[in-house]
Amino acid sequence: MNALWKASLVNHQQPMTAAAELLRDSQNVVVFTGAGASAESGIPTFRDDDGFWREFPVDEFATWPGLVRTAISCPRRVAEFAYAVLHPIASAKPNAGHVAIADLERHVRVIVVTQNIDGLHGEAGNTIVHEIHGSLFEVVTLRGRFVKLLSRRRLLKMSAALDKARRGWLCLPRTLLAIRPWLGLVLRGVHRPKLVLFGDAMAGPAWSQSLNAVRNCDCLIQVGCSGVVWPAAQLPQTARATGARVISIDPQRTAGDVWLRGTAAEILPALVQRAFGAE
Ligand code: APR
Repeated sequence: MNALWKASLVNHQQPMTAAAELLRDSQNVVVFTGAGASAESGIPTFRDDDGFWREFPVDEFATWPGLVRTAISCPRRVAEFAYAVLHPIASAKPNAGHVAIADLERHVRVIVVTQNIDGLHGEAGNTIVHEIHGSLFEVVTLRGRFVKLLSRRRLLKMSAALDKARRGWLCLPRTLLAIRPWLGLVLRGVHRPKLVLFGDAMAGPAWSQSLNAVRNCDCLIQVGCSGVVWPAAQLPQTARATGARVISIDPQRTAGDVWLRGTAAEILPALVQRAFGAE
């Protein structure tokens, strides 16, 4: 189906019908997700009214130097922040949106590119997931070399210890003890969670694999991304520049050839159902 025909199709049909048509006509699909994809699993987004950065300012919490400065000046704030990040992720389960993305693999080739650090796409069953901002479950050396993976059970234990540390005495030593599985603090040096904070290089090799995937896809579904953080925000444009069509799913209007207004857990199952019915 040539691009022109596709464009007129997109403009003239109900968005859901147009999106389902695009998906059915695709072989290689990239699903690009942001915090909105996990909101219905109980994990706050970053920039919505109840978003993380509303309560924890970016300059204090979104860079490693900022975190170290805040840990020295006000350890309880860092314990609060670590708990606010860790607890919802440790206790989260894939929502209907994650499940639909995994289900999509039965119909087309799917590569998931996610900005999320919550591990929910893998847990829902997707086989290829590129975590471009890292993962809360992966521990690396300060230079980024792999050390180990932590289980969700381990993260739950860490968040319970953090909950006590943020409320009690000796907050800093107890916080460091609670997050020790991330930090190591043994003879072999200091470790850290594999997270990409502002100013960091993107997580290798996930980033180069993601660029390759979007350049070779024929449809990109963007789910719950505000599109304000670079270089991740370039991915939909890179896909379009190589001829792919972009479907965006978000309660707010976001860029794309077809915008499906609504939440991930509502729209994704309906889209997969509309595109592939009971196949
Ligand atoms: N379903 C779908 N989309 C949703 C839902 C939902 N249930 N709830 C909110 N959204 C949308 C919002 O409208 C918004 O467009 O999800 C988007 C969330 O935007 P952000 O909070 O900016 O999150 P994200 O785009 O993932 O942020 C990018 O910024 O802070 C850094 O590293 C962090 O990976 C993150 C990056």
